[in-house]
Amino acid sequence: MIRLLEKWQKLLNSSGNMVLLLVLLMLVFDVSYTQAFQENGNKIKSRTYLSPEFMLGPGSVESKTYDDIDFPRGHIALKSFNAEVVDQDGNPVPLYETYIHHWLVGKYYENRPSQRNFSRNSGLCQGQILGQYFGLGSETRKTATHIPDPFGIEIGNPAEIPEGYQEKWYLGIHAIETRGAEDRLGCIECWCDLYNVTNDEYGNPIRPDYKGGLFCCYGQTQCKVRQGFQGGKRSLYLRYTVKWIEWDSSTIPVEIFVLDATDTGKRFLGSTGISPEDGCQVEYEVESCTSTDAAGNGCIDIKRNSVTMPTGGYVVYAVAHQHAGGIGSTLYGQHKGTFFNLSSV
Ligand SMILES: *[C@@H]1O[C@H](CO)[C@@H](O)[C@H](O)[C@H]1NC(C)=O
Ligand SMILES: *[C@@H]1O[C@H](CO)[C@@H](O)[C@H](O)[C@H]1NC(C)=O
Ligand SMILES: *[C@@H]1O[C@H](CO)[C@@H](O)[C@H](O)[C@H]1NC(C)=O
Repeated sequence: MIRLLEKWQKLLNSSGNMVLLLVLLMLVFDVSYTQAFQENGNKIKSRTYLSPEFMLGPGSVESKTYDDIDFPRGHIALKSFNAEVVDQDGNPVPLYETYIHHWLVGKYYENRPSQRNFSRNSGLCQGQILGQYFGLGSETRKTATHIPDPFGIEIGNPAEIPEGYQEKWYLGIHAIETRGAEDRLGCIECWCDLYNVTNDEYGNPIRPDYKGGLFCCYGQTQCKVRQGFQGGKRSLYLRYTVKWIEWDSSTIPVEIFVLDATDTGKRFLGSTGISPEDGCQVEYEVESCTSTDAAGNGCIDIKRNSVTMPTGGYVVYAVAHQHAGGIGSTLYGQHKGTFFNLSSV
């Protein structure tokens, strides 16, 4: 979810508390912005990169973060980021073979020789949690990521990079290979018993009521494969295409906010990790459906949350990330007591 910087609000806020979508439609008809739109349209640059290779065999999991990945450099405005998993011949790999649990792209500043500072998005989670610039998962293919003109995500601004530091980008990929899986859905949902996992990746025991989730399908874990299934390891890559324009004064910078449906809203002083009481939980357990639920809402589990934005602004783009079984997600906005239905994805 991306919001405008406060300093640009007044410029666009010509008709009071208007919902952004309407404002954007107006911009298209605004002469000065139409001009900017055409100019930017001509200047869009595009480049496709390959992540480092990762290897997956039947039922195996890879979860790695690659530092200093190939990325456009200079003072630019990002317009879109699209990614997919390909094999060593460059052919897209189907999700029923390699399930992309998630991938994340984010920014850090590096000082020679080894001082690194994570540079998170504008919020809202605690510490470094969900601090990425881009990130999706199995829904990545065919998801529109384009940010309309005259907006862009400003990066590489020399005035913002701390002196003596370089701006660099990391890529995190979490992929689950389900070729030969005895229970493909169970592997994708990371059921602990299918992975035969009782300790998390740091060796700490997992609480007994935790049936499945990220703690049970970390890198190098192995999901149960059908007996006798033949299939070797193969090389995979994340292929990503970044589109951008050179920075210029007609581009309006946007800020990135990641909202988590599980966010408790609590922020204990100094807390940066995930704890059951504090902040964004990233995942939550969907309870088994009871016969009452089945009769009532057909076993649909609904999770609602509401957060207060730290600054004002307009929403120009929003997208939801959900895992298998997710039906949909809707974002509502409320401004000064008026209720808006901003988007439904
Ligand atoms: C980076 O982090 C270190 C250690 O926390 C801190 O001393 C330093 O001031 C930070 N640098 C920047 C540019 O924020
Ligand atoms: C599951 O893990 C336990 C303990 O780590 C091990 O003894 C057992 O052989 C594993 N079972 C399978 C089916 O891999
Ligand atoms: C919000 O908008 C979407 C898309 O127009 C629509 O499908 C949905 O029913 C709306 N929800 C409410 C509560 O108005």
